[in-house]
Amino acid sequence: MTNTLVGKPVDRVDGRLKVTGGARYSAEFNAAGLLHAALVLSTVSKGKITAIDTAAAEAAPGVRSVLTHRNAPKLKEPKPDFANGGGIRNEERIPLSDDKIGYGGQYVALVVADTFERAAHAASLVRVSYAAEPPELNKEQASATKRKPKENDQGEKTQLKKGDVAAALADASLVKIEATYETPTETHNPMEPSATVAMWEGEDRLVVFDATQYVKGTQDVVAQAFGLQRAQVRVICPFVGGGFGCKGAVWPHTILAAMAAKVVKAPVKLSLSRHAMFSGTGHRTPTTQKVALAASRDGKLHAIRHHVETLMSPFGEFVETCGARSTGVMYASPAIEVEETLYEVNVAPPTFMRAPGECPGTYALECALDELSYALKMDPVALRLANHADNHPFKNKPFSAKHLKEAYALGAEKFGWSRRKPEPRAMRDGPLLVGWGMATATYPGYKMNAEAKARLNADGTARVQCATHDLGTGAYTIFTQISAQTLGVPLEKVTFELGSSDLPFGPVAGGSNSTATVGSAIYDAAQDLHNQLIALAVLDPQSPLRGLNPGDVALAAPGQLGSKSQPAKTDSFAEILRRAGKEFVEGEARMKPESKEAPPFEFQSFGAHFVEVKIDPAVPRVQVSRVVSVMNCGQIINPKTARSQVLGGVIMGIGMALEEETVYDPPTGLPVTRNLADYHVPVNADAPSVEAYFVGEPDYHFNPLGARGLGEIGITGAAAAVANAVFHATGQRVRDLPITPDKLLI
Ligand code: MOS
Repeated sequence: MTNTLVGKPVDRVDGRLKVTGGARYSAEFNAAGLLHAALVLSTVSKGKITAIDTAAAEAAPGVRSVLTHRNAPKLKEPKPDFANGGGIRNEERIPLSDDKIGYGGQYVALVVADTFERAAHAASLVRVSYAAEPPELNKEQASATKRKPKENDQGEKTQLKKGDVAAALADASLVKIEATYETPTETHNPMEPSATVAMWEGEDRLVVFDATQYVKGTQDVVAQAFGLQRAQVRVICPFVGGGFGCKGAVWPHTILAAMAAKVVKAPVKLSLSRHAMFSGTGHRTPTTQKVALAASRDGKLHAIRHHVETLMSPFGEFVETCGARSTGVMYASPAIEVEETLYEVNVAPPTFMRAPGECPGTYALECALDELSYALKMDPVALRLANHADNHPFKNKPFSAKHLKEAYALGAEKFGWSRRKPEPRAMRDGPLLVGWGMATATYPGYKMNAEAKARLNADGTARVQCATHDLGTGAYTIFTQISAQTLGVPLEKVTFELGSSDLPFGPVAGGSNSTATVGSAIYDAAQDLHNQLIALAVLDPQSPLRGLNPGDVALAAPGQLGSKSQPAKTDSFAEILRRAGKEFVEGEARMKPESKEAPPFEFQSFGAHFVEVKIDPAVPRVQVSRVVSVMNCGQIINPKTARSQVLGGVIMGIGMALEEETVYDPPTGLPVTRNLADYHVPVNADAPSVEAYFVGEPDYHFNPLGARGLGEIGITGAAAAVANAVFHATGQRVRDLPITPDKLLI
């Protein structure tokens, strides 16, 4: 059937709800008798609680309960099996389970009261005494904890090696670059802070409204903590105000809200403050990345060495995987060596933050390539073309539908790259220094497992369901488009339901997998639904399709099935249902067993950013003035929402390059940049004109829609392109982000 909806810039189906306040976020759910909880955060980062005085808090007006490790119910330690549809934990410790302090901001008490203000006031009255030890906050202090993980939590190899890297780096005939790049801790700041409303319906039924990227994951972890079956816990989250990875795992506050609701026997709401988000829901770990490149005069790489050091918390391993996810996939080189080293520090657990691994990894690698381009006196785009990887550098398989060369070409054309003067400080706009930089973007095509249900009613309406999520990205809209398209029902007649654990299984909305995963499940459910209509029609003596081989019948036009061999023979959904006396027909997609066979292709998206910066030498604050980004993500389902995703990624990349940094106070280990006044993210004045383009073709090797997700690729390479433009403008190479004015002494 012809494509009528997929690829169209359909307006957001939830747009009206969003702008009228009709979209309800987790903290907005209420219940009769709702109580409010407030957290007490540890003011030390390492040591033990020696005493807690809760008397004043307990005596404060409206207080119902003060929970600490002394009186908190003992819960079970969840052991989620992510590969089999389980949840995710980055803090593998039940909150308030003992007196041990592993990081600043760790929850040490929870106060429940009848109003939010009374809870917050009483929380300020809790007095906690600590036997504090000096915290270990960086790799020097934590050198004893050094280790090299073989794999990350998704089972990917983190240490890679091929060819003779040392020999190439020692070869005097080659041009070499060796540099260390550093990225700071960055903290997610979605518009919507995390929040949980928990209510028990009797002893063994729990309802949780939770700001999450994974309703089924929260269901699993919370059920395990309380010793319940998954079906006894309902998790509801129809809207998310941004996640970027910080709502993928189940964090202590969600478990605490449910614990408190059980203790006080009433619904409890627990909303995190912006401050609490700086330790309570993860961050991007800081990285130190040593990159060494060796290339011949023609630009061909002979070796890439990429050594990464990152930090993790005492409460669970987390690998940022910078090397394998950038150097491990991006360029052809006969010799590549990637190492990842971890240190355990007294900082809250890190987690996924938009393109974990690829984002800091491409920053380092793409800056190193830029440095190499100057050493070779070669155009940065030409250098990348000289090292284009047709095959995956380690798996020796071709990439499916890779159109990176087109992305470079289109980006260069739209940006006007040919007018670039290669020398640093060679371009000006009046008194301003102008710099043009570029970088490659990349992100894998991930597909997970999902189920879906599709119901077609006799009145021509349809309802499609999957427990997936809309993080504000447009998932409601594109899944409505895909449902309408694959079912053959007009868009306005389709309702797509997500955000509830009552629905068929959907995986975490992470790894930019949702479009490919859920889209495929919708496709399968629509096929199943059509098969049921076909089965009715071919057995119906009154149907024009009677007696046909079911394999000869398919969707012919919206609302119509037809014979493939005799196109004149058609029958409508409405007629088939009417004659069969059915109110509706339902199709489903079930979890698919994991294929044992590796596909013959690698699924990886690529793109390119071209960035212009302008810098006043008197006040060297970098202004990004123009960005052109070209991405190749297969079939674009909705150009409007896709464009917004790329814009968001690029602007977040500008924040990474120029502004974002979570700073910890050395003596206490507490985050001091713990609000949006001190932790800078780009505002409108920082956001340039960003043009986003897409190249390529649908990747049908990947899934029947041909789509690869694009939530994360936009940020990859973006910080490098900015940093490279800053070098071009100033001749100064700042290798530790963010590039703040104090680092640019022009
Ligand atoms: Mo994304 S960082 O996988 O939510």
